Amino acid sequence: MVEMDELKKELKKINTEAGKIRDLPVAERAEFGRKINERRTEILKKIAEAEKALLDVEVEEIDVTAWSGVNEKMPEFYPTEMGSAHPLMTELDRVVSIYQMMGFNVVESRQLDDEYHMFDSLNFAKEHPARDGYDTFRTEEGLIPPAHTSTMQHRVLKQYKKNLDEGKAIAVVVPGRVFRNEDTDATHEHTFYQCEGVYVSSDCNMGQMLGILREFFEKYYEQKLNIRTQPGYFPFTEPSLEFMIEKPKSLGGKRGDFLEMLGCGMIHPNVLKMAGIDPEKDHGFAWGGGIDRLVMLRYGLNDVRDFESGNLNFLRAFN
Ligand code: DAH
Repeated sequence: MVEMDELKKELKKINTEAGKIRDLPVAERAEFGRKINERRTEILKKIAEAEKALLDVEVEEIDVTAWSGVNEKMPEFYPTEMGSAHPLMTELDRVVSIYQMMGFNVVESRQLDDEYHMFDSLNFAKEHPARDGYDTFRTEEGLIPPAHTSTMQHRVLKQYKKNLDEGKAIAVVVPGRVFRNEDTDATHEHTFYQCEGVYVSSDCNMGQMLGILREFFEKYYEQKLNIRTQPGYFPFTEPSLEFMIEKPKSLGGKRGDFLEMLGCGMIHPNVLKMAGIDPEKDHGFAWGGGIDRLVMLRYGLNDVRDFESGNLNFLRAFN
């Protein structure tokens, strides 16, 4: 490469020099031109040779999918432990594909968001104490690592609004990582995963929402379930509900053992309005719930902190 750079520099120099021919007395021009051309031919030949040499270099095959170190040199032996997907990621894929089978689009949430998407666009009144309920972290610049995937609702509504104009529904789920500034214990972790659902159409209702949620949980736990709701409060839904399932016997549950799985409700008209959707024409429902808890129930796990612990013994149990 260095050689090639030098040669090209030289060629440029010759070309510049060639321009000087105009300043010479006519009698000297022919001789000057001949010399310059000789030098140029020489350099062009060298460049062609150097180019050929570059092409002739034997290129080693690289496996771009290989783990670190493999492409550097052939190892004496291949590592016996190749790593694996984190159980939360495997389960999140399962969650998302169940919704996809039901016709939902998927949008990923982000790991740094702002006050507007975390609160304002979700109808949290300014200075309302409900803002404190979310134990948000803040960066020095005033940004917020989202405390729930609902931060994506406003964006999803705006992005997919055109569906409504075409007479179709908005049907989107949003998996994502969320963060809360709270003390950790066996059931609380500062970093966890949620999946949000947003559905808007001209004629949707709460019955459809409960149907979708039942279908989802029955698919996820691969069995029929008893469900129950109780009133809840979220500024972005009206009415708001907490959705519960009866802990299945196969997973160690007793009759009447209801577990709260997610928050849901009919999307508040203000939330639709802020995204430019007319709440007189279109209605929606939304829900959001933790993935970690879902997975813990499925596998009978009892400490949510295991997920983020990097404890290999824990992780290996899922392979
Ligand atoms: N974002 C709420 C939470 O993390 C859960 C939730 C409740 C999401 C109601 C929703 C909803 O979309 O409609 O506590």
